[in-house]
Amino acid sequence: MTIEDCSAARQARPVPDTPTNVLQQLSMKGKVVVVTGASDGLGYAAIEAVAEAGADVALWYNSNDVAIQKAQELAKAHSIRAKAYQCEVSKVDKVRSTIEQVVADFGRIDVFVANAGMAISKPILEQTVDEYKRQMEVNVDGVFYCAKYVGEVFKRQGKGNLIITSSMSAHIVNVPVDQPVYNSTKAAVTHMGKSLAREWRDFARVNIVSPGFFDTKLGASPRVVNEAYRMSALGRQGHVKEIKGLFLYLASDASSYQTGSDTLIDGGYTLP
Ligand SMILES: NC(=O)c1ccc[n+]([C@@H]2O[C@H](COP(=O)([O-])OP(=O)(O)OC[C@H]3O[C@@H](n4cnc5c(N)ncnc54)[C@H](OP(=O)(O)O)[C@@H]3O)[C@@H](O)[C@H]2O)c1
Repeated sequence: MTIEDCSAARQARPVPDTPTNVLQQLSMKGKVVVVTGASDGLGYAAIEAVAEAGADVALWYNSNDVAIQKAQELAKAHSIRAKAYQCEVSKVDKVRSTIEQVVADFGRIDVFVANAGMAISKPILEQTVDEYKRQMEVNVDGVFYCAKYVGEVFKRQGKGNLIITSSMSAHIVNVPVDQPVYNSTKAAVTHMGKSLAREWRDFARVNIVSPGFFDTKLGASPRVVNEAYRMSALGRQGHVKEIKGLFLYLASDASSYQTGSDTLIDGGYTLP
Protein backbone atom coordinates (compact mmCIF):
# COMPACT_ATOMS: atom_id res chain seq x y z
CA MET A 1 0.00 0.00 0.00
CA THR A 2 1.41 3.42 -0.94
CA ILE A 3 0.81 6.87 0.64
CA GLU A 4 -1.22 7.71 -2.48
CA ASP A 5 -3.38 4.60 -1.94
CA CYS A 6 -4.00 5.61 1.68
CA SER A 7 -4.94 9.20 0.85
CA ALA A 8 -7.28 8.39 -2.06
CA ALA A 9 -10.85 9.46 -1.21
CA ARG A 10 -13.02 6.52 -0.16
CA GLN A 11 -16.71 5.88 -0.59
CA ALA A 12 -18.20 4.30 2.52
CA ARG A 13 -19.75 0.93 1.84
CA PRO A 14 -23.50 0.76 2.46
CA VAL A 15 -24.82 -0.20 5.87
CA PRO A 16 -26.43 -3.65 5.57
CA ASP A 17 -30.18 -3.77 5.18
CA THR A 18 -30.80 -5.47 8.52
CA PRO A 19 -33.64 -4.84 10.99
CA THR A 20 -33.20 -2.20 13.69
CA ASN A 21 -35.03 -4.32 16.25
CA VAL A 22 -32.39 -6.37 18.03
CA LEU A 23 -34.56 -9.44 18.50
CA GLN A 24 -35.24 -9.45 14.76
CA GLN A 25 -31.49 -9.09 14.15
CA LEU A 26 -30.98 -12.25 16.19
CA SER A 27 -33.45 -14.24 14.11
CA MET A 28 -31.78 -16.95 12.02
CA LYS A 29 -34.84 -17.76 9.92
CA GLY A 30 -33.88 -18.62 6.33
CA LYS A 31 -30.18 -19.03 7.18
CA VAL A 32 -28.16 -22.24 6.82
CA VAL A 33 -25.62 -22.98 9.54
CA VAL A 34 -22.95 -25.70 9.65
CA VAL A 35 -21.23 -26.63 12.91
CA THR A 36 -18.37 -29.14 13.11
CA GLY A 37 -18.14 -31.27 16.25
CA ALA A 38 -21.88 -30.74 16.67
CA SER A 39 -22.86 -33.98 18.44
CA ASP A 40 -22.16 -32.73 21.90
CA GLY A 41 -20.45 -30.09 24.02
CA LEU A 42 -19.91 -26.58 22.73
CA GLY A 43 -20.71 -27.54 19.14
CA TYR A 44 -24.15 -28.83 20.06
CA ALA A 45 -24.74 -25.69 22.12
CA ALA A 46 -23.95 -23.61 19.00
CA ILE A 47 -26.23 -25.63 16.74
CA GLU A 48 -29.06 -25.69 19.29
CA ALA A 49 -28.81 -21.89 19.69
CA VAL A 50 -29.15 -21.15 15.98
CA ALA A 51 -31.84 -23.82 15.51
CA GLU A 52 -33.88 -22.26 18.33
CA ALA A 53 -33.53 -18.95 16.46
CA GLY A 54 -34.93 -20.55 13.30
CA ALA A 55 -31.86 -21.57 11.23
CA ASP A 56 -31.67 -24.68 9.08
CA VAL A 57 -28.74 -26.67 10.41
CA ALA A 58 -26.08 -29.15 9.30
CA LEU A 59 -24.55 -31.08 12.19
CA TRP A 60 -21.09 -32.46 11.38
CA TYR A 61 -19.77 -35.29 13.52
CA ASN A 62 -16.82 -37.62 13.38
CA SER A 63 -17.30 -40.62 15.69
CA ASN A 64 -20.42 -39.71 17.68
CA ASP A 65 -23.40 -40.42 15.43
CA VAL A 66 -25.92 -39.23 18.04
CA ALA A 67 -25.88 -36.19 15.74
CA ILE A 68 -28.26 -38.09 13.45
CA GLN A 69 -30.88 -38.42 16.18
CA LYS A 70 -30.29 -34.88 17.45
CA ALA A 71 -30.81 -33.50 13.94
CA GLN A 72 -34.20 -35.22 13.77
CA GLU A 73 -35.15 -33.86 17.20
CA LEU A 74 -34.12 -30.30 16.31
CA ALA A 75 -36.04 -30.43 13.03
CA LYS A 76 -39.18 -31.55 14.83
CA ALA A 77 -38.88 -29.18 17.80
CA HIS A 78 -38.22 -26.02 15.77
CA SER A 79 -39.86 -26.77 12.39
CA ILE A 80 -36.53 -26.36 10.61
CA ARG A 81 -34.44 -28.49 8.25
CA ALA A 82 -31.66 -30.35 10.00
CA LYS A 83 -29.29 -33.03 8.75
CA ALA A 84 -26.24 -34.82 10.15
CA TYR A 85 -23.05 -35.42 8.15
CA GLN A 86 -20.11 -37.64 9.07
CA CYS A 87 -16.89 -35.77 8.34
CA GLU A 88 -13.38 -36.30 9.70
CA VAL A 89 -12.04 -32.74 9.46
CA SER A 90 -8.41 -33.78 9.03
CA LYS A 91 -9.27 -35.38 5.67
CA VAL A 92 -9.19 -32.64 3.07
CA ASP A 93 -11.20 -34.51 0.41
CA LYS A 94 -13.89 -35.39 2.94
CA VAL A 95 -14.17 -31.76 4.07
CA ARG A 96 -14.47 -30.54 0.50
CA SER A 97 -17.07 -33.16 -0.50
CA THR A 98 -19.11 -32.62 2.68
CA ILE A 99 -19.27 -28.87 2.06
CA GLU A 100 -20.40 -29.60 -1.51
CA GLN A 101 -23.04 -31.99 -0.15
CA VAL A 102 -24.39 -29.39 2.31
CA VAL A 103 -24.67 -26.85 -0.51
CA ALA A 104 -26.42 -29.47 -2.69
CA ASP A 105 -28.85 -30.26 0.14
CA PHE A 106 -29.53 -26.76 1.50
CA GLY A 107 -28.67 -24.51 -1.47
CA ARG A 108 -26.20 -22.30 0.42
CA ILE A 109 -24.14 -21.90 3.61
CA ASP A 110 -24.60 -18.66 5.55
CA VAL A 111 -22.60 -19.51 8.67
CA PHE A 112 -19.88 -22.09 9.28
CA VAL A 113 -18.70 -22.78 12.83
CA ALA A 114 -15.31 -24.54 12.77
CA ASN A 115 -15.60 -25.97 16.25
CA ALA A 116 -14.21 -29.53 16.15
CA GLY A 117 -11.06 -29.99 18.17
CA MET A 118 -9.10 -32.37 20.36
CA ALA A 119 -6.31 -32.34 22.91
CA ILE A 120 -3.56 -34.70 24.01
CA SER A 121 -2.43 -32.65 26.97
CA LYS A 122 1.19 -33.45 27.79
CA PRO A 123 4.51 -31.64 28.20
CA ILE A 124 6.46 -31.57 24.96
CA LEU A 125 9.18 -33.83 26.36
CA GLU A 126 6.55 -36.55 26.86
CA GLN A 127 4.56 -35.82 23.71
CA THR A 128 5.26 -38.13 20.79
CA VAL A 129 5.71 -36.75 17.30
CA ASP A 130 2.57 -38.62 16.21
CA GLU A 131 0.56 -36.96 19.02
CA TYR A 132 1.88 -33.58 17.93
CA LYS A 133 0.92 -34.27 14.32
CA ARG A 134 -2.56 -35.49 15.26
CA GLN A 135 -3.37 -32.32 17.21
CA MET A 136 -2.05 -30.19 14.37
CA GLU A 137 -4.00 -32.06 11.71
CA VAL A 138 -7.33 -31.89 13.56
CA ASN A 139 -7.10 -28.47 15.24
CA VAL A 140 -5.16 -26.53 12.59
CA ASP A 141 -5.33 -28.40 9.28
CA GLY A 142 -9.02 -29.16 9.94
CA VAL A 143 -9.87 -25.48 10.41
CA PHE A 144 -7.78 -24.58 7.35
CA TYR A 145 -9.58 -27.13 5.14
CA CYS A 146 -13.01 -25.98 6.36
CA ALA A 147 -12.13 -22.30 5.87
CA LYS A 148 -10.63 -22.88 2.44
CA TYR A 149 -13.61 -24.72 0.97
CA VAL A 150 -16.39 -22.84 2.73
CA GLY A 151 -14.56 -19.63 1.79
CA GLU A 152 -15.06 -20.58 -1.87
CA VAL A 153 -18.80 -20.92 -1.17
CA PHE A 154 -18.90 -17.56 0.64
CA LYS A 155 -17.06 -15.83 -2.20
CA ARG A 156 -19.43 -17.31 -4.78
CA GLN A 157 -22.43 -16.22 -2.70
CA GLY A 158 -20.91 -12.78 -2.04
CA LYS A 159 -21.73 -13.36 1.63
CA GLY A 160 -20.68 -15.57 4.50
CA ASN A 161 -19.78 -15.85 8.15
CA LEU A 162 -17.05 -18.04 9.67
CA ILE A 163 -16.75 -18.57 13.41
CA ILE A 164 -13.77 -20.46 14.84
CA THR A 165 -13.82 -22.08 18.27
CA SER A 166 -10.35 -21.40 19.62
CA SER A 167 -9.55 -21.30 23.35
CA MET A 168 -8.32 -19.12 26.17
CA SER A 169 -5.23 -21.35 25.74
CA ALA A 170 -4.48 -19.25 22.66
CA HIS A 171 -4.16 -16.25 25.01
CA ILE A 172 -2.40 -17.76 28.01
CA VAL A 173 -0.08 -20.61 28.85
CA ASN A 174 -2.76 -22.63 30.59
CA VAL A 175 -1.90 -24.15 33.97
CA PRO A 176 -1.41 -26.51 35.77
CA VAL A 177 -1.03 -29.05 32.93
CA ASP A 178 1.69 -28.30 30.43
CA GLN A 179 0.17 -28.66 26.95
CA PRO A 180 2.28 -26.55 24.60
CA VAL A 181 1.08 -28.27 21.45
CA TYR A 182 -2.66 -27.81 22.14
CA ASN A 183 -2.03 -24.20 23.16
CA SER A 184 -0.11 -23.63 19.93
CA THR A 185 -2.84 -25.15 17.76
CA LYS A 186 -5.35 -22.74 19.22
CA ALA A 187 -3.05 -19.72 18.86
CA ALA A 188 -2.61 -20.71 15.19
CA VAL A 189 -6.33 -20.80 14.42
CA THR A 190 -6.98 -17.56 16.29
CA HIS A 191 -4.51 -15.77 14.07
CA MET A 192 -5.76 -17.61 10.99
CA GLY A 193 -9.24 -16.29 11.77
CA LYS A 194 -8.05 -12.70 12.21
CA SER A 195 -6.07 -12.92 8.98
CA LEU A 196 -9.09 -14.29 7.12
CA ALA A 197 -11.26 -11.46 8.44
CA ARG A 198 -9.06 -9.12 6.44
CA GLU A 199 -8.60 -11.38 3.43
CA TRP A 200 -12.37 -11.92 3.08
CA ARG A 201 -13.34 -8.29 3.88
CA ASP A 202 -15.34 -7.96 0.64
CA PHE A 203 -17.63 -10.93 1.19
CA ALA A 204 -17.48 -12.54 4.64
CA ARG A 205 -17.06 -11.90 8.35
CA VAL A 206 -14.77 -14.04 10.51
CA ASN A 207 -14.76 -14.09 14.30
CA ILE A 208 -13.19 -16.20 17.01
CA VAL A 209 -14.66 -17.61 20.22
CA SER A 210 -12.12 -18.31 22.97
CA PRO A 211 -13.72 -20.36 25.76
CA GLY A 212 -12.22 -20.99 29.16
CA PHE A 213 -13.12 -24.22 30.94
CA PHE A 214 -16.58 -25.49 30.04
CA ASP A 215 -17.98 -28.68 31.49
CA THR A 216 -17.65 -30.93 28.41
CA LYS A 217 -15.50 -33.90 27.45
CA LEU A 218 -12.69 -31.42 26.69
CA GLY A 219 -13.33 -29.42 29.87
CA ALA A 220 -11.27 -29.55 33.04
CA SER A 221 -10.02 -33.09 33.73
CA PRO A 222 -9.91 -34.33 37.35
CA ARG A 223 -6.28 -33.23 37.75
CA VAL A 224 -7.13 -29.72 36.52
CA VAL A 225 -10.59 -29.06 37.92
CA ASN A 226 -9.48 -27.58 41.25
CA GLU A 227 -7.28 -25.05 39.46
CA ALA A 228 -10.16 -24.31 37.07
CA TYR A 229 -12.32 -23.32 40.05
CA ARG A 230 -9.53 -21.34 41.74
CA MET A 231 -8.50 -19.37 38.66
CA SER A 232 -11.97 -18.56 37.38
CA ALA A 233 -13.31 -15.38 38.95
CA LEU A 234 -16.74 -17.03 38.87
CA GLY A 235 -15.36 -20.08 40.72
CA ARG A 236 -16.62 -22.78 38.36
CA GLN A 237 -16.58 -24.15 34.82
CA GLY A 238 -19.02 -22.79 32.28
CA HIS A 239 -22.23 -24.67 31.47
CA VAL A 240 -22.76 -25.21 27.73
CA LYS A 241 -25.98 -23.17 27.84
CA GLU A 242 -23.85 -20.15 28.77
CA ILE A 243 -22.09 -20.02 25.39
CA LYS A 244 -25.24 -20.26 23.24
CA GLY A 245 -25.85 -16.51 23.26
CA LEU A 246 -22.34 -15.73 22.04
CA PHE A 247 -22.56 -18.17 19.12
CA LEU A 248 -26.01 -16.86 18.19
CA TYR A 249 -24.86 -13.25 18.36
CA LEU A 250 -21.84 -13.90 16.14
CA ALA A 251 -23.86 -16.02 13.70
CA SER A 252 -26.63 -13.45 13.37
CA ASP A 253 -27.08 -10.00 11.87
CA ALA A 254 -26.80 -8.55 15.40
CA SER A 255 -23.01 -8.70 14.92
CA SER A 256 -23.00 -7.27 11.37
CA TYR A 257 -20.26 -4.71 12.20
CA GLN A 258 -18.06 -7.30 13.92
CA THR A 259 -15.22 -9.07 12.14
CA GLY A 260 -11.76 -10.17 13.22
CA SER A 261 -12.82 -10.22 16.87
CA ASP A 262 -11.70 -12.75 19.44
CA THR A 263 -14.11 -13.07 22.36
CA LEU A 264 -12.92 -14.59 25.62
CA ILE A 265 -15.71 -16.37 27.50
CA ASP A 266 -13.89 -17.81 30.49
CA GLY A 267 -15.59 -16.78 33.74
CA GLY A 268 -12.73 -14.36 34.32
CA TYR A 269 -10.03 -17.07 34.22
CA THR A 270 -7.57 -14.95 32.28
CA LEU A 271 -8.03 -11.78 34.39
CA PRO A 272 -5.09 -12.12 36.81
N1 LIG B 1 -14.59 -27.47 26.98
C1 LIG B 1 -13.61 -26.63 27.18
O1 LIG B 1 -13.21 -26.38 28.32
C2 LIG B 1 -12.97 -25.92 26.01
C3 LIG B 1 -12.18 -24.81 26.28
C4 LIG B 1 -11.60 -24.13 25.22
C5 LIG B 1 -11.78 -24.56 23.93
N2 LIG B 1 -12.54 -25.67 23.69
C6 LIG B 1 -12.70 -26.07 22.29
O2 LIG B 1 -14.06 -26.23 22.02
C7 LIG B 1 -14.23 -27.13 20.92
C8 LIG B 1 -15.33 -28.12 21.26
O3 LIG B 1 -14.90 -28.93 22.34
P1 LIG B 1 -15.89 -29.42 23.51
O4 LIG B 1 -15.40 -28.82 24.75
O5 LIG B 1 -17.28 -29.23 23.10
O6 LIG B 1 -15.52 -30.98 23.61
P2 LIG B 1 -16.18 -32.25 22.88
O7 LIG B 1 -17.56 -32.44 23.34
O8 LIG B 1 -15.20 -33.36 23.05
O9 LIG B 1 -16.22 -31.78 21.36
C9 LIG B 1 -15.16 -31.98 20.48
C10 LIG B 1 -15.78 -32.25 19.16
O10 LIG B 1 -14.78 -32.29 18.15
C11 LIG B 1 -15.10 -33.33 17.26
N3 LIG B 1 -13.88 -33.86 16.67
C12 LIG B 1 -12.75 -34.24 17.30
N4 LIG B 1 -11.86 -34.74 16.41
C13 LIG B 1 -12.46 -34.63 15.20
C14 LIG B 1 -12.06 -34.97 13.89
N5 LIG B 1 -10.86 -35.51 13.64
N6 LIG B 1 -12.93 -34.73 12.86
C15 LIG B 1 -14.13 -34.19 13.10
N7 LIG B 1 -14.58 -33.86 14.32
C16 LIG B 1 -13.74 -34.09 15.35
C17 LIG B 1 -15.77 -34.40 18.09
O11 LIG B 1 -16.61 -35.15 17.24
P3 LIG B 1 -17.07 -36.68 17.56
O12 LIG B 1 -17.45 -36.70 19.02
O13 LIG B 1 -18.20 -36.93 16.63
O14 LIG B 1 -15.88 -37.57 17.26
C18 LIG B 1 -16.51 -33.58 19.13
O15 LIG B 1 -17.84 -33.34 18.73
C19 LIG B 1 -12.87 -27.74 20.65
O16 LIG B 1 -12.26 -27.10 19.55
C20 LIG B 1 -12.10 -27.42 21.93
O17 LIG B 1 -10.71 -27.34 21.71
C21 LIG B 1 -13.14 -26.36 24.70
